[in-house]
Amino acid sequence: MEKLVIEGGKPLSGTIRIQGAKNAALPIMAASVLCQGEIALGNVPDLLDIRVMLDILTALGSKVQREEDRIQLDMSGLHSSHIPEELMKQMRSSIFLMGPLLARFGAVTVYQPGGCAIGERKINLHLQGLEALGAVIEEDGNTIRCRADKLKGADILLDFPSVGATENIMMAAAAAEGRTTIHNAAREPEIQDLQHFLNAMGARIYGAGTDTITIDGVARFTPCTYRIIPDRIVAGTLLVAAAATRGNVTLEEVNPQHLTSLIHVMKRSGVQIISSGDIMNVQCHNRPKRIERMMTSPYPAFPTDLQSLLMVFLSLADGLSIIKETVFEGRFKHVDELNRMGADIHVDMNAAFIKGVPRLYGATVEATDLRAGAALVVAGLAAHGTTVVEQIHHIDRGYEQIEGMLARLGARIRRTPIEGSAPTPLADRTG
Ligand code: EPZ
Repeated sequence: MEKLVIEGGKPLSGTIRIQGAKNAALPIMAASVLCQGEIALGNVPDLLDIRVMLDILTALGSKVQREEDRIQLDMSGLHSSHIPEELMKQMRSSIFLMGPLLARFGAVTVYQPGGCAIGERKINLHLQGLEALGAVIEEDGNTIRCRADKLKGADILLDFPSVGATENIMMAAAAAEGRTTIHNAAREPEIQDLQHFLNAMGARIYGAGTDTITIDGVARFTPCTYRIIPDRIVAGTLLVAAAATRGNVTLEEVNPQHLTSLIHVMKRSGVQIISSGDIMNVQCHNRPKRIERMMTSPYPAFPTDLQSLLMVFLSLADGLSIIKETVFEGRFKHVDELNRMGADIHVDMNAAFIKGVPRLYGATVEATDLRAGAALVVAGLAAHGTTVVEQIHHIDRGYEQIEGMLARLGARIRRTPIEGSAPTPLADRTG
């Protein structure tokens, strides 16, 4: 087990390149299952979740090679569609392997991914979508067996624009006979990246990025080379870290269009943000103004994955801000830890009331999930004194060497083993 030790109070400055998007790379690696040949992916971040996905694909029979941020997947030898339960437990988002495995093998066995620190994480919309395409699904305890002699296109309406369900249905429908239309589809940039990748393999999909996606199934998928989009949540994390430390940071290889809601909020609170092409500069010289009311919602509204980061920033603002979390029911686990650092935050149902304080103070805190952990690191950078963040394996699921990233911007941060601790168990990860 390791921890991060942070000496706070120093403004971040400098230039940093943004890593490839975890939440685009994972579904694209799953979609590679549809192809009988070789897939080459670029700009793939080296993260715990990516390694688990590679372990799952290897267990199913694919040959995997990794060189820096490039991954070679040879899917010709795929021989199983039974995802090992132990690996499934390590990353719940492996559930979106169901669609492509069902399309390729006509059958797939997975396990209930279960809830996690941020909420129940149901998969009913995934299962309903696959059933609409002709799958027969049996649930036996926590085992889910799914089979389909033939997948046929269908008209599907999602009760909620679920990212994972949209992706699962897209990948199964890409190989189904006939046309599928997904109504109330998720609109995230990662869905658009998945469409571009599937079409690069020969699929015929239109409309990703809107709430209606049309998929005309094809019989064959061809090998391709593809580069993953930048990670908008990592970019947003660094943007907030720069502002919270009153720094001056330039982000490279970022897509500002993917961050419009965060940029809008930060500018309203007084942060200076200038974008040009795939470069963004962020500067903050004064205490931020409060944001009266903010609500997380599906893209293009404010992303739930940046809620904890915005909360850290607003905990130092001048006045009372309110954030409402509408996507996940349990995504305020970072509040107690922030209050231990001197923040003044009160939660009532799914709303957090954040009374800005002049400063935060270093403390020993614990990451409970990926983005809560990132928020505690940013709080430590802004705080006066030393902050120790424990359970940092959660953070390593989504940030490639976060301490290296931040140290390149002048942060005083180091990773160190926890005395006498065993290596981190792999089994408590969520997607
Ligand atoms: C994806 O999770 C992301 N993960 C999450 O990022 C992100 O927070 C989330 O989308 C929302 O943007 C990956 O892409 C790997 P959802 P996903 O299905 O697909 C309910 C991170 O930090 N729901 O859009 O699981 C669900 O309970 C991670 O990188 C159902 O009710 O999100 C939740 O309340 C965390 N039934 C809401 O929808 C279903 O069948 C959003 O879930 C599916 C979901």
